[in-house]
Amino acid sequence: MITLEHVSKTFGRKDRTVRAVDDVSLAVGAGELHVLIGPSGSGKTTTMRMINRLEEPTAGRITVDGRDVLAMNAVELRRKIGYVIQQGGLLPHFTVAENVAMVPRLLGWRRRRRRERAEELLTLVGLPPARFASRYPHELSGGQQQRVGVARALAADPPIILMDEPFGAVDPITRKQLQRELRRVQAAVNKTIVFVTHDIGEAFLLGDRITLMADGRVVQDGTPADLLRHPADPFVTAFIGEDRGLRALAHTSLVELAEPGGNGAGASSLALPGSLSVLEAGRELGRRGPTDGDGVWVNDEEGRPVGYLSFQRLATVLGETLAPAVDGSEEDSRGIPA
Ligand SMILES: Nc1ncnc2c1ncn2[C@@H]1O[C@H](COP(=O)(O)OP(=O)(O)OP(=O)(O)O)[C@@H](O)[C@H]1O
Ligand SMILES: [Mg+2]
Repeated sequence: MITLEHVSKTFGRKDRTVRAVDDVSLAVGAGELHVLIGPSGSGKTTTMRMINRLEEPTAGRITVDGRDVLAMNAVELRRKIGYVIQQGGLLPHFTVAENVAMVPRLLGWRRRRRRERAEELLTLVGLPPARFASRYPHELSGGQQQRVGVARALAADPPIILMDEPFGAVDPITRKQLQRELRRVQAAVNKTIVFVTHDIGEAFLLGDRITLMADGRVVQDGTPADLLRHPADPFVTAFIGEDRGLRALAHTSLVELAEPGGNGAGASSLALPGSLSVLEAGRELGRRGPTDGDGVWVNDEEGRPVGYLSFQRLATVLGETLAPAVDGSEEDSRGIPA
């Protein structure tokens, strides 16, 4: 659906140039949600803006649907491509419905059809039109504004949507909600989406494929599972390693690791609830400071010991989880730990 072939972009004049994008090649398949991730300044936004021609490449070629974007009429191109930016980019003196219907209006749709389309989309993104259609952007929360931004990008039913850190400015709980909704919407409308984020968790949650960028180049391009299992170089490990470990640890409870009945247990005066995740247990142990035994008792909800977990075993699990190239068999196809 979208290809970039050896694309570079240099900003500035002869003496002071910035190579924002450096020989990037990518392919985004139809219906794919493709994440661009990387540190600040790595060229994600510039890469994205070249796809809808808000920037023109200095070198290389970009195609959409098999056609060179530079050979396409810019208006025609943008009709094919919805664009969502971080702050929503809503026009403050337009109502929610008018914001959503902006592109259809430019396309000359009749009033009634615009209104119906706006209502349909507001419903899709979880904003009942009866309550939200005639509000103004400042009367919405940040998360609600982002939803309007998503609805607006979908309005003219473009096959492609570019999203540049669309959920970057909202609180973590709203962000989770928006991520879940995006997955739902994506399943319902089956768009090709290029999604820029800083957040590796978001990348794993949403991405069918992930391209990791640094210094304007592609460091690795693959499925989330590829990145987890076969990090292309230490930069990838550094970028995803800690977080991958933490996510896995947050999903493993002590009771899963404890030796039932505590056979052969060493002496310990320490007991922790079995429902704690390994991550929480690690924090708890850190708070309590040095202990006498070689492990902890693991209790059920009534506070009765159901097993024993040696520090040795815990350390092995932590090590396995945090090691760079673990086997990914417990992850689903999106690389999310079971
Ligand atoms: N219009 C411009 N003129 C000059 N330099 C630019 C311009 N736009 C971007 N750059 C530079 O190009 C590099 C890549 O910028 P870009 O915005 O693509 O990064 P990014 O990965 O999106 O970063 P962030 O995560 O902070 O949004 C940066 O060094 C930036 O300063
Ligand atoms: Mg950016």
